[in-house]
Amino acid sequence: MVKKMIELKMVTKIYDLGKIKVQALKGVLLDIEEREFSVIMGPSGSGKTTLLNMVGALDRPTSGRVIVDGADITDYDEGRLAHYRGRKIGFVFQFFNLLPLLTARENVELPMLFAGDLSANEAREKAKELLNLVGLGDRINHRPTELSGGQQQRVSIARAFSNDPALILCDEPTGSIDTATGVEVLRLMKRLNRELGQTFVIVTHDPGVAGVASRSIYVIDGKISLDVPPGVSPPTDHIAKRMYESTQAKIAKLETSKRELQLYKTEFELFLKRKDELDPILFRKAREDYVNRITHLQQRIMAEITSTKEVFIFDQFKKKRKESNE
Ligand SMILES: Nc1ncnc2c1ncn2[C@@H]1O[C@H](COP(=O)(O)OP(=O)(O)O)[C@@H](O)[C@H]1O
Ligand SMILES: [Mg+2]
Repeated sequence: MVKKMIELKMVTKIYDLGKIKVQALKGVLLDIEEREFSVIMGPSGSGKTTLLNMVGALDRPTSGRVIVDGADITDYDEGRLAHYRGRKIGFVFQFFNLLPLLTARENVELPMLFAGDLSANEAREKAKELLNLVGLGDRINHRPTELSGGQQQRVSIARAFSNDPALILCDEPTGSIDTATGVEVLRLMKRLNRELGQTFVIVTHDPGVAGVASRSIYVIDGKISLDVPPGVSPPTDHIAKRMYESTQAKIAKLETSKRELQLYKTEFELFLKRKDELDPILFRKAREDYVNRITHLQQRIMAEITSTKEVFIFDQFKKKRKESNE
């Protein structure tokens, strides 16, 4: 019998924002088998990222169960979840999330140093191997800014593989690179899936991506829909809906930034604990990167809070005006 890698059992997610409640997932039932290469498609705002966050334990469901590789992770505490994320899952994001002061090799090394299973030398050798595997053997000492978008995404794929995860989760991995490069990145992922056997779940808008998938799953309005033809477009929208969506989008962005900040802080604490084991130069550079990133995120969150308030105020203003017209 084929083993199930992911089981979602009636998963719902409601974002509770006080007056507004956003039902992002409305009872999702989904099985994904080991070694599958699945693509999740659907209109913007339909719940794709939320779904991926449930599997990657970046957020918790409101109800339902999340079972990954046979383990029910729904009630894990933060410590166990951090361990789960570090060992079981490799993440690939739209904007790569590489640390800018570190070289490609150091970026790939870092998760292994966090996990602490390998010596510094072993981690370094493995990082080189992984970079060879993604075709960047001649770029190991380059920093992210010295690499193209496609190459940066390859580095982040190598990084995702560093702790031999069972599952690779990708959110819009080709969303910020050109189409031709996107195709190459996908071919690479497909090859790794075939050769190394990891299960892939890829959220994408890119119809080209669906072509290489062994399975396409559609998320429409918080539900799984298996029979929607490719190229599905968002439902027709009028102005009110757009306004609502733009508020939602801003809130979502804010929440994402907060979550990202939390992740970096946790990672940073872990990292500081390992000071004595790490190469001092690598340590200094990585610390600087973390501090910069955390400061930057804090500033972004402040800006997002301000702009979200503006949307709320504008909404209330419109409502008042409408009421006084009636
Ligand atoms: N943290 C959040 N807080 C409030 N609403 C959110 C949050 N994250 C997402 N949403 C809302 O949930 C719905 C699904 O969002 P998302 O999963 O990001 O969709 P997709 O990835 O398909 O574009 C949207 O209406 C979005 O605005
Ligand atoms: Mg998304």
